[in-house]
Parts: sequence; structure tokens; C-alpha cells
Amino acid sequence: MKNGTAFGALAHFLQERFPVDKMNFHSMVEKKEVPVHSMSWGYYTGGLTLFFFIIQVVTGLLLLFYYQPTVSDAYASVEYITKYVTGGALIRNIHSWSSSCMILFAMIHMITAFAMKAFEKPREITWIAGVLLLFITFTFGFTGYLLPWNQIAVNASKVGLQSVEAAGQYLPGQLSQLPRMAIETFQGEASVGQSTLGRFYAMHVVLLPMAIAALLGLHLLSVQLHGMSQGVDEPPRKVEKFFPVFFFKDVSLWSAVFLILFVIASTVPFDSFLPFPLLEPYNAMGSTPPGIKPEWYFYFVYYPLEMLPFWVILLASNIAVVVLLLTPWIFRGTSRRTLRYISLAASAYLVVITLFGQDILHMVKPGF
Ligand code: HEM
Repeated sequence: MKNGTAFGALAHFLQERFPVDKMNFHSMVEKKEVPVHSMSWGYYTGGLTLFFFIIQVVTGLLLLFYYQPTVSDAYASVEYITKYVTGGALIRNIHSWSSSCMILFAMIHMITAFAMKAFEKPREITWIAGVLLLFITFTFGFTGYLLPWNQIAVNASKVGLQSVEAAGQYLPGQLSQLPRMAIETFQGEASVGQSTLGRFYAMHVVLLPMAIAALLGLHLLSVQLHGMSQGVDEPPRKVEKFFPVFFFKDVSLWSAVFLILFVIASTVPFDSFLPFPLLEPYNAMGSTPPGIKPEWYFYFVYYPLEMLPFWVILLASNIAVVVLLLTPWIFRGTSRRTLRYISLAASAYLVVITLFGQDILHMVKPGF
């Protein structure tokens, strides 16, 4: 009987989040309206993240025509794409720039959705799917970084995987085996090698795209079912039709952004922002480049890791993940004003640590 009640409550919860009677074109597209107010720009951030994801899929598929996922050929195939394939350098450069843009906009989108309290009932599942999408987006970045099989990428991946393994010593009992098992699964051999490249490749081009497609489907379905959230406390100045008005603005923004991306990718090689030249094949006998760093989007965790004890970061990251997943319940009663202050504080942290992390590290540890 108790089970029946729990099952009924779950069914009711899901019915409210995914109302079957609203699953039609009229409710999800024709009737949908978008409020116009001071935070309306926040409604474009999810669409932009989606746009960069679409660019990743298209350019990624084109790169697949030539890329070889073996330690003997990966680097050479990337070099071949860059030097000899017509438009290859451009496609590769768009893929690199757009990957950073996708991560940047996924983070901005999460922060604005938080500030606008868009996680409130009935959007809890939209939010949780979003948190998982963000993790997947970061994992895309991590796995993609290894694929060119160059010196910096292989060494950076080794450091990343080692820090996962190091987490084991802080976990109790059987749980302490978990990171080691994860490393065995993803690394596949004693050190980063062919098995690792094969597994990272499988994740980057098959598993993660499948997971992101499923979660994105869930995310967008629930967005269309519930319409845009109110966003601000005061009543909106007006509302506009999602289709065609908002949709047209979305597509215009995408076109402008594509133009900017195209110009940047045609003129500025993404590699020029990296501290080490990307195109240098991995040499197991070669030295680990001093002061290797992950991509900029991991700086928010990388610099604290360099400055604070490992267990502090591990604890803080676990708390952050739990808080993110439970946000719809933890911040249910919090005012939008307070949520905006929290969002501003989080944004300030992310901007400062990403731009000035190296200087702060240098101050804390002069040797670095
Ligand atoms: C691959 C990453 C993601 C994509 C492609 C994506 C896409 C979208 C799109 C197109 C919308 C509708 C337009 C908008 O409100 O901006 C949306 C809404 C939403 N997204 Fe995401 N999203 C992603 C990640 C996230 C993350 C990381 C979160 C938060 C944890 C999140 C939470 C939400 C919420 C709560 C809404 C509803 C907004 C409202 O009703 O006002 N999304 N998303």
C-alpha cells in the first residue's frame, strides 16, 4: 500500500512535469509566449548554447572523415586536415572556437536560469537535465583535448586522470576503489596509451553525443511544454509570440554569431591562445612541458587545486554538485533578488579565477 502511494506520488510528479495533454504543436509552439522584461536577454542564452552544439556536430562529423584514432596516426591525421584538406584548417578552427563558446554559453545560461529562478516548479527536471548537460559539455572538452595526441594533450590528460585517481584515498571503505575502477575503465591500461585514445574517441564521438541528444530532448521538451519562466518578480512589460517573433530573433542572433565565429575562425588560429604550440606530436621519451595547464574552462577548479589541499577541493566540488542538482528544492523559498546576488558572486569568482588565476597563484606560491 505504502509502495502504491509512493508510486502514485511519482506518477503525479511526472504528470505535472510532462503533461501529455499539452504535447501537441498548438500548446508547445503556437500558444507559447515569451515575457519581455529587463532580463529577457537571458532567454537567448540556451538557444545560443544549442547553436554552438549544432556547429560542433556538423564540424565534428566533417573532421571524422579524416581523423584516425590511433596513437601512430592521430597526430599526423590532424596535421593532414590542417595542412592539406581543403577548408580543413577552417573546420578544425571553428570546432575549437565553438567548443569554447559552447562551454562559455552553457555556464552563462545556467547562471541566468538560476538568477531568473527558472528552476521553480514545474521546471525541476529542465534544471536537472541542464546540470547533466553541463557536465557532459565539460566531458566533451576533456575527451576532445586528447584526440590530436600531441605532447601537451597527452600530458594534460595524464594529470587530469591522476587527480581522479587521487580522490580514492579520501573516500571511505569500498567507495575508495571507485576512482581506481573509473580510471581502469576510461584509461584502459597502465598509462595513457592506445586504449585511452580509443576510449576517449568512443566517448567523444558516440557515447557523449548519444547522452547529450537524449538529455537535450528531455530539456527542450520540458521547455516547450511549460513555456518560458516568468524571469523577474514584477509583471512583464508585454509578451511576444514564441513563433514567429522570438524564433525569428533567435535565428537572427544565430546568423550574426555565426558570422562573427566564421571571421574569427578564418583569421585567428585557436592554437595561438594556448601556452604551448598544439602541433607537436606526443613523444613518450619527451619531457612533460613545465607548468602544463588544462583548457581555460577548467581554470576555476585547476587554480584552487594548485593552491589548496586536494581534500578541500574534493569536498567543495562534491558539495557544489549536490547543491546544483538539488537547487530547485534548496532555493525554493529564496527571492529572485538574493538569487541574483548569488549569481553575481559566482560569476565574479569565475571571471577573476579564469583571468587572474595565474597571478593569484604566483602571489600565493611565488615558485609558480
Ligand atoms: C548543452 C547545454 C544546454 C543547451 C543546449 C540548453 C538549451 C536550452 C534552450 C534552447 C532553452 C530555451 C531558451 C532559454 O530559456 O534559454 C533552455 C531553457 C532552460 N535551460 Fe537549458 N540548455 C543547456 C544547459 C543548461 C544548463 C547547464 C542549465 C542549468 C543547470 C539549464 C537550465 C535551463 C532552464 C531552467 C531552462 C528554462 C528557462 C525558462 O523557462 O526561462 N540548461 N535550455
